[in-house]
Amino acid sequence: MSNFQSPRGLPIKHIKIGDLRFRLFIPESIIEERIQELAKSIKSDYRGKNPIIICVLKGAILFTSDLVKAGEIDGQIDFVRLSSYDGTTSTEKVKELMSIASDIKGRHVLVIEDIVDTGRTLDYYLKHLKKQEPLSVELAALLLKPDALKFPVDIKYLGFKIPDLFVVGYGLDYNESGRGLRDIYQLDLPDVGLY
Ligand code: IMP
Repeated sequence: MSNFQSPRGLPIKHIKIGDLRFRLFIPESIIEERIQELAKSIKSDYRGKNPIIICVLKGAILFTSDLVKAGEIDGQIDFVRLSSYDGTTSTEKVKELMSIASDIKGRHVLVIEDIVDTGRTLDYYLKHLKKQEPLSVELAALLLKPDALKFPVDIKYLGFKIPDLFVVGYGLDYNESGRGLRDIYQLDLPDVGLY
């Protein structure tokens, strides 16, 4: 899979969040199409397995909801909140701000994440889960920045590979703004005071 490229003819649309300017990158319709495909595979792989589906808050909330709905995936949904980001930069420490309530021992587990950047967050968390002796642990991620990856993370269900540029929208935030945008936007030129 090569890096996602915005389709030709995509309207040039800019938004400003805080001090940064972003431009339309992955439109809602393309996100929806890809989710349908991923949901189909997940549904068939987990049929009869009653997985524990762990949504990584806060960014994966919309992706998890749409994925589970698109595939009518039957499973137990749980939430974890991990934090390794400060503004637009990945930091070295992963903090578990909220833990899952489920006992995963002997269960199939599917972790759903919004974006894998350096891979540090998921590398830490998947190792942590595996110590609890689940039957299996797989990962679904909407976005991957292959050029930023420093920790090997095996993503079974991947939405799109993207260049190493900060993105917002569809659950992803910039300092807690932008999560509710239907499309995904990519960091554009720095604000030079033209607005
Ligand atoms: P990693 O540990 O470096 O892979 O970072 C993963 C986490 O950083 C994700 O769960 C996001 O919360 C956040 N993150 C990484 N890249 C972006 C981005 O481009 N936009 C918004 N959040 C991001």
